[in-house]
Amino acid sequence: MLMKTYTAAPGTATNTSGIVLDNLRVAYHDRVVLKPLSLTIEPGEVLALIGPSGSGKTTVLRAIAGFVPPASGRIFMGDRDITRLPPYKRGLGMVVQNYALFPHLKVEDNVAFGLRARKLPKALTNERVQQALKSVGMVDFATRYPHQLSGGQQQRVAIARALATKPQVLLLDEPLSALDAQIRHNMVEEIARLHRELPEMTILYVTHDQTEALTLADKIGIMKDGSMVAYGETHALYRQPPNRFAAEFLGRANILGATVLELKSQAGETLVSCGGTLVNVVTPGILHSRNKLLCVRPQHITLHKRSERSNRLDATLKSLHWQGDLTHLLCDVAGETVRVVLTQLNPLPQAGDRLALWFEPDDAVLLEVGHV
Ligand SMILES: Nc1ncnc2c1ncn2[C@@H]1O[C@H](COP(=O)(O)OP(=O)(O)O)[C@@H](O)[C@H]1O
Ligand SMILES: [Mg+2]
Repeated sequence: MLMKTYTAAPGTATNTSGIVLDNLRVAYHDRVVLKPLSLTIEPGEVLALIGPSGSGKTTVLRAIAGFVPPASGRIFMGDRDITRLPPYKRGLGMVVQNYALFPHLKVEDNVAFGLRARKLPKALTNERVQQALKSVGMVDFATRYPHQLSGGQQQRVAIARALATKPQVLLLDEPLSALDAQIRHNMVEEIARLHRELPEMTILYVTHDQTEALTLADKIGIMKDGSMVAYGETHALYRQPPNRFAAEFLGRANILGATVLELKSQAGETLVSCGGTLVNVVTPGILHSRNKLLCVRPQHITLHKRSERSNRLDATLKSLHWQGDLTHLLCDVAGETVRVVLTQLNPLPQAGDRLALWFEPDDAVLLEVGHV
């Protein structure tokens, strides 16, 4: 099932910074790369768009920014129809992956660029530049040139440049993907802080990094082949992914064949056979067929019983990878491989050992067979 509508009626966002996409469709040379997408981004919300390369994430952003005209559909900011507005009139800031700073301009002039283009008075321009540089911790670098900065610093300047115009909506297209892991981690924290300081700013954050999305976003949309195949509040989407693609894209997931035997309670507790073993799963949705996939995340499996409701799967340890903080176990459960991630394991089991794997009914989810 493809979900296509995630929207209130167009124009119903309550202030000027919410975005509404109404059946937005984009084609390049007659090839549709974004299938009709309806989506509401609430004012002040951080929405992360994730998905594999080529799935259409940048296209959504470029359409909202006004760099690519939609083949059909409309784009609203608050109740303003901005579909045909030129980019500079939309009140948006955009940051892309490769910084795109002007190499011949000092940091302060890069940040001032958009303000000067708007012919803001000089004193106000200087004040805004200082403010923007301060918000990304780059005041001391104002007179340097981009080549005198590290990648992380350049990206901070790019963010400052986008913030200087005080956009109502900030579009970020893989802003951290050119940076190395440690700096990326720090920058994610900084973007989170920035949003705490500017809570009214709506942020659309494109990334292929699920950790960035999980850390920053209020809501996540997952793109595949030009469609949004999953959408929801970050925590709920992680806990209850609607399909296999979402489950596997947003973290690691064990996916096992399962047959539904009985709906046991109004609360959705369902008895399922998994490789001949009976387990209980809490399923909020309606079950249309008996054949399902059982999804349970590696870190939700333990080697001990946690409650009276705990489910048990009998397993044989195939291999073990100790990584200091974490230990990864690969187990065989009735011919299927199950990954377990544990934080503490003492003593370490050996390959070939028989293990009991335990998980709670509400730490598992039933998915439809098929990928999306
Ligand atoms: N300027 C363009 N001309 C033609 N095809 C494009 C252009 N930009 C992107 N595409 C195609 O549109 C699809 C979606 O691209 P994009 O939105 O950049 O994906 P993502 O950001 O998820 O990697 C891809 O198949 C890509 O090749
Ligand atoms: Mg892209």
